[in-house]
Amino acid sequence: MVKVITYGTYDFLHYGHIRLLERAKALGDYLIVGVTADDFDKTRGKINVQQSLEERVSAIQETGIADKVIIEEYEGQKIDDIRRFGVDIFTVGSDWAGYFDYLNEFCKVVYLPRTEGVSSSEIRVEKSFLRLGMVGYAPFLRKFYNESKFVNAVDVVGLCVPEEGILNDLESEMFYTTSYEELLSRVDAVYIHAHPSKHFDLNMKALEARKHVLCESPLAMNLEDCNTLLRYAKENRLILMDATRTAYITAYSRMLLLLKSGKIGKVVSVDATCTSLNSPEKVESNRLWGSLEAWGPTTMLPVFQILGTEYKSKTIFSIKEGEYDSFTKIDFTYPNATATIKVGTGVKSEGELIVSGTKGYIYVPAPWWKTDYFEIRYENLANNKRYFYQVDGEGIRYELVALASAISNNTPDYYISRNISLTIAKVLEEYKGNQ
Ligand code: CTP
Repeated sequence: MVKVITYGTYDFLHYGHIRLLERAKALGDYLIVGVTADDFDKTRGKINVQQSLEERVSAIQETGIADKVIIEEYEGQKIDDIRRFGVDIFTVGSDWAGYFDYLNEFCKVVYLPRTEGVSSSEIRVEKSFLRLGMVGYAPFLRKFYNESKFVNAVDVVGLCVPEEGILNDLESEMFYTTSYEELLSRVDAVYIHAHPSKHFDLNMKALEARKHVLCESPLAMNLEDCNTLLRYAKENRLILMDATRTAYITAYSRMLLLLKSGKIGKVVSVDATCTSLNSPEKVESNRLWGSLEAWGPTTMLPVFQILGTEYKSKTIFSIKEGEYDSFTKIDFTYPNATATIKVGTGVKSEGELIVSGTKGYIYVPAPWWKTDYFEIRYENLANNKRYFYQVDGEGIRYELVALASAISNNTPDYYISRNISLTIAKVLEEYKGNQ
């Protein structure tokens, strides 16, 4: 029996894929199809994949062409698979010509002509092409725009900043306006990165104009406003998503899954610290942020995602410098657990995340909020485990992919539940109220 193997992502399975599978099968008697796992795709730079691994595997199975479907999860797996399954022929499309010649050492390598005129990339663009406008704090918008170029389902087409010339180069690449209404009239969705006190108005205007929104957290500065926004978005089937980048980073979401599967036993405490000193430019331009405004949402994210939002009480310690808190520490008490967040824009500390449990703990080194790495540590050091997942662009490109897929699948709170957005707004409101 001649065994053939082929690999692919197979996003939105199309006739180019089917023709390839049929010809691959015809090379032998038994066809194994390797479907790339989402994380493996990300490390290969395919961050635009829209369908889940499950959907992609089912689509291959439904063709009835494959005799066996496997998942490709790591670099070097092809060699393992070829040996393990006793494969005679490895084949892929001619777009990969030469790339897999190294496998000749293990089996025959055949490149089949690629079908012209169809690709997953084109289908994705047709399906979920999103015109996005940016509004708010200029320096960050440049970074955001540069990252958006890696995501072909999203096209950043417009920019709204208060003064012409702040982002000279970008203004020539897209339409520029000082009018938020004009921006909204020419896009499908907006990205908001403004001072938190402006978020509610910017969000509400966008939703009323029937636009989807990706907004830096908090969505609003109080619980009622946040609730109004989320309810309005839900009723109108619009996506309103927190742009807390950490939530969209693979290492972080893997860590949450490991915790849920009980790897460190019962979680007893979560300690998260984020600090960054206000830069001289920020001080000069009077664009100062309080610590809790700047870092509160990010640090509260793991607390609420791991321990839930039903804390019993909280105590706040804060150091103020003028209007702003330069450092704030909040302790949350739960029935059988505790959490501490420490944030600073005028104080520097080690930006680590530690989750302690009854069997061990998770250690995420600084800067944990954009991490590619964490460790599970136990009493017996020999059992410690390290996990690496590549991060590109601080998670911005992943959150853009998440936005596009939330819009096409109407899944607004896949990454950050509404309850968490609300609780973050509530904590900020109570903090302000106490000052
Ligand atoms: N393939 C093909 N003809 C096409 C598209 C893909 O023969 N028109 C083949 C590829 O060469 C590969 C397999 O199908 O062997 C899986 O390809 P995949 O990368 O999943 O699909 P693409 O459509 O090329 O995806 P993308 O646009 O994301 O690169």
